[in-house]
Amino acid sequence: MAKNLSIVILAAGKGSRMKSQKAKVLHSISGKEMLQHIIKTALSLSDDVSVVVAHQAQSVKESMQKYFTNINFIEQDLQNYPGTGGALKNYTPKHSKVLVLNGDMPLVTTSSLEPFLSTNAAIVMSVFNLLDPSGYGRVIIENGEVLKIVEQKDATDDELNIKSINAGVYLFDSEVLKRYIPLLKNDNAQKEFYLTDVISLAKKDGIKIEPLYVDESEFKGVNSKLDLANAEVIMQERIKSFWMQNGVNMQLPSTIYIEDGVTFDGECLLEMGVRLSGNTKIVSSHIKAHTIIEDSFIKDSDIGPLAHIRPKSVIQKTHIGNFVEVKKSTLNGVKAGHLSYLGDSHIDEGTNIGAGVITCNYDGKKKYETHIGKNVFVGSDTQLIAPLNIEDDVLIAAGSTISSTKALPQGSLAISRVKLLIKEGFFYRFFGKK
Ligand code: UD1
Ligand code: CA
Repeated sequence: MAKNLSIVILAAGKGSRMKSQKAKVLHSISGKEMLQHIIKTALSLSDDVSVVVAHQAQSVKESMQKYFTNINFIEQDLQNYPGTGGALKNYTPKHSKVLVLNGDMPLVTTSSLEPFLSTNAAIVMSVFNLLDPSGYGRVIIENGEVLKIVEQKDATDDELNIKSINAGVYLFDSEVLKRYIPLLKNDNAQKEFYLTDVISLAKKDGIKIEPLYVDESEFKGVNSKLDLANAEVIMQERIKSFWMQNGVNMQLPSTIYIEDGVTFDGECLLEMGVRLSGNTKIVSSHIKAHTIIEDSFIKDSDIGPLAHIRPKSVIQKTHIGNFVEVKKSTLNGVKAGHLSYLGDSHIDEGTNIGAGVITCNYDGKKKYETHIGKNVFVGSDTQLIAPLNIEDDVLIAAGSTISSTKALPQGSLAISRVKLLIKEGFFYRFFGKK
């Protein structure tokens, strides 16, 4: 945690290039909103983190309040003070230095921000060189000092050829912001109050502005769905490298998707095409190809290939095979090898679920639970109509439809089938002999 550092994150803009109803900063990367990633990084450096909101302010605030209680929200008056400078009109930092970040920079890490904090300059601004600088502000640098920043829409043809661009992250002495923000004017192509004009104003007063060259892959803003997809690839690489370094075995990792929030313990193997989301935790398990696991706990088990484990499932010492869907269920020492739906169920040790077993948990109005005890053998193609309670050591015959208000008693057989009828020679009477 840095001393004397306040951080403000600009997140009020419309983000029209995203072409979406949703606020730009609420688009997700690896399962978490872009803004969540940058706030988390900011909180690792400062105890005074503020977020400037305006466009869809309410939904931006509410989404972030789910994660953080220790951040401030500042409302920008977009009508009267549009632009990155307008965003800081109502902002008062607590400390003597202010780091300005953008809400659309989910890939910035704590260590890449540290160089901003290790200088004494009154203004430090982030610069990188892009072959195609279009859309960005151009940075005019002379003798190692920044003279000014020219926005694309205000640039002359010569200025447009400059490849040094403004990444949009700055460190300011709080005094500098306090002095120059009120002096900003909107006499430019976009009629906006540009934060970048603080630079040229300060320069005229002899204040030193230090350029800090930053890594494009971390500081490039996400402005479109294409940028979003590219940022996702980088974030996924980071998450998967971290877990592989911590002992998780992944086959063809480029085909695997793991959200921020998933954790592993013990020796785990993930086959190709696995997708793990939410707060899933996997302990000492083998997840086979093309399996999807959402917000669940898996321990000492093997799951898949092609299985779907939906939220709030707790699965231990269990074998789940292909085309099995599990939802909000607790499975402990169970075998469910093929083609089943197990929802809102609790199934105990030694129980075998045959192929095609379905828990009918929904009557069109409400969801009900299925409880199955130990060592139960559920024959193939059985429908278990919930609510249902099956005690230990019960044999359910294949093809049964089980609906019972009383528990099936321990040690019993349950069978519900239409009696088999055989009519000799019927085939030939019906179709004739060929
Ligand atoms: C700004 C810089 C530009 C730089 C680019 C880097 C200015 C005038 N220009 O461009 O030099 O190359 O960032 O990404 O600062 N925002 C607000 N309120 C607003 C407008 C924007 O909070 O009124 C926020 C946005 O939500 C976003 C950030 O500021 O998080 C940057 O806005 P964006 O529109 O992407 O940047 P530009 O103004 O185009
Ligand atoms: Ca803009």
